[in-house]
Amino acid sequence: MKIKKVVLPVAGLGTRFLPASKVIAKEMFPVLDKPLIDYAVDEAISAGGTDFIFVISPDKKSIIKYFEDDPNLVHELIKKGKQELVDIVKPKISGSITTIVQQKQLGLGHAISLAKPFIKDEPFQVLLPDDLIMSDNPVQCQLADVYKKHKCGVVALQQIPQDEIHKYGVVSGKKNNNEIKIDGFVEKPQKQQAPSDLAIVGRYILTPEIFDELDKNIVGSGGEIQITDAMAGILKKQDFYGLKFTGERFDCGSKIGFLEAQIAFANKDKDIKQKLKSILEKYI
Ligand code: UTP
Repeated sequence: MKIKKVVLPVAGLGTRFLPASKVIAKEMFPVLDKPLIDYAVDEAISAGGTDFIFVISPDKKSIIKYFEDDPNLVHELIKKGKQELVDIVKPKISGSITTIVQQKQLGLGHAISLAKPFIKDEPFQVLLPDDLIMSDNPVQCQLADVYKKHKCGVVALQQIPQDEIHKYGVVSGKKNNNEIKIDGFVEKPQKQQAPSDLAIVGRYILTPEIFDELDKNIVGSGGEIQITDAMAGILKKQDFYGLKFTGERFDCGSKIGFLEAQIAFANKDKDIKQKLKSILEKYI
């Protein structure tokens, strides 16, 4: 199942990473040598993504530059005989790149709603790059398999400890192995009100009907237009599934998650792995 259109909402302020995020988009922070957004694009491509829609804030143009061809750099690398690096920097998006500027940070739902004119009547992928997921089978491919079966929206779910649940969109529903047929969504509930311990992480496959809900401009938790509220609205007309995905997720929007991702990816890299243990032992 190939889902060609991909929306990457990356217009957030990234306040948890100030002051660094003042001038560097947090999606450009590297885990080892690759920016978070590059991991997200690779994952989307593996699920058939060809046409990418980046929703950026006015000061995040570097993200678009990163995915464009850079003939001067390529020329210099060839001159220096570094062909292997030419392969690393060449553009990877095979179809189109569309840039939309979200002038005001009115919420994730609002950012996604701006993609409406470019989606038409197809399902589309949404990825939040600060959720980095390590998995042999890319999570977007796992979601695409569920979409193929049910032909409706699908979100990635993770079990979250009670004390953290107030930071997430949380679902309720009927479980069938790792699939959940969702019957309710709540954005950032207090732990007493949380309908389950299953939280939405930043991977979605959405159907175009979501835009009818987003057009209602419902202001939700935190005074923002939330995608969770739009997904709740769609339940009246369509099914919606969640998948407890296979893989390890790192919340790279937080310092501790970002640090853990560095260690986990370093431990997978055959050259760095050798030194990792002694470095960690030195400090801990
Ligand atoms: P976050 O909740 O992580 O917010 O957004 P943030 O601004 O990126 O980071 P903090 O919490 O201030 O540190 C989740 C996703 O939604 C996007 C963000 O870029 C991120 O990918 N987003 C959020 C938008 O594109 N626009 C918005 O108005 C809000």
